[in-house]
Amino acid sequence: MLQEKITQYTAEINAFTTTNADELEQFRIKFLGTKGIIKDIFDEFKAVSPEEKRTLGKVLNEFKQLAEAKYQSLKEEGGQDQGGKDAGMDLTLPGEGFEVGARHPLALVRREIVEIFNKLGFSVAEGPEIEDDWHNFSALNFPEEHPARDMQDTFFIKKGGEKGDIALRTHTSSVQVRMMEHGQPPFRALMPGRVYRNEAISARAHCFFHQIEGLYVDEKVSFADLKQTLFYFVQELYGEGTKVRFRPSYFPFTEPSAEMDISCTICKGDGCQLCKHSGWVEILGCGMVDPNVLENCGIDSKKYSGFAFGMGIERIANLKFEIKDLRLFSENDVRFLKQFKSALI
Ligand code: DAH
Repeated sequence: MLQEKITQYTAEINAFTTTNADELEQFRIKFLGTKGIIKDIFDEFKAVSPEEKRTLGKVLNEFKQLAEAKYQSLKEEGGQDQGGKDAGMDLTLPGEGFEVGARHPLALVRREIVEIFNKLGFSVAEGPEIEDDWHNFSALNFPEEHPARDMQDTFFIKKGGEKGDIALRTHTSSVQVRMMEHGQPPFRALMPGRVYRNEAISARAHCFFHQIEGLYVDEKVSFADLKQTLFYFVQELYGEGTKVRFRPSYFPFTEPSAEMDISCTICKGDGCQLCKHSGWVEILGCGMVDPNVLENCGIDSKKYSGFAFGMGIERIANLKFEIKDLRLFSENDVRFLKQFKSALI
């Protein structure tokens, strides 16, 4: 009796070939389920005579294994056909995709500036953000009583030290000193980096921002070289026809010193809110490296001369992208940062 049933079901199992998930589930319930055929057969088996048990036992186990193996192999096969659906994933679904990030606007601007000066043979140098008094002030010819040396303007970290008080650098001009101390001219370098000042945070001021310092020291470097270099830079960055003008200014580390304006990038000189209706916007400070600075760094000021300049990257980015609030640069708001995607390459 039992043997007949097994023979009959074995034929049925062998003939079963569908990988359809629903039918396969029916198959599982029918044969392998808790109320299925195999359970029934094993129940019946308990009642057969001991002699029969000896021969049937093996047959029964083989039958059970056959049903299980069939179910497993059809399930796997079906899973593959359906893109792994039964394995918990559906490979036919479209991929999830991932968003391509965007470069930070300040990084974009920094790179653009560096590339322009690269063409003129300027390399890139960096220095520490935690700086001593010598590199940030004294070597740069800052007088003892200069307001930048006041707690109100500078974040001091530690009093005293081999090279004076330790502070967060207030400008990247400190990197000039480090560069000149460690070699002899010619120097032609760009020094980008973050700087810190003790300012209340607002749309127009921040306690940290970014600068790019430029330095060119060699024999017979003149103010004409400075003007031509910066003129070229402006044409490259803002397009040909952008005008520049130099206004006399003062910095302890340059003599003479100047501030450079460009014709307003928005109104092209006609007058608008950005340029406060003057037609001009200031973009950097510059000048001829003061001979005292050269000497402080161990460079013969009779033989060598040089020019230097320094600009705020945020300022350049503001002009380029018309960003009105400085705080946006450091808030990491994805809605803001996403807008610079098109500028990515
Ligand atoms: N260090 C100046 C500042 O933070 C910027 C500057 C002006 C740098 C003139 C220079 C320079 O190298 O020659 O405002």
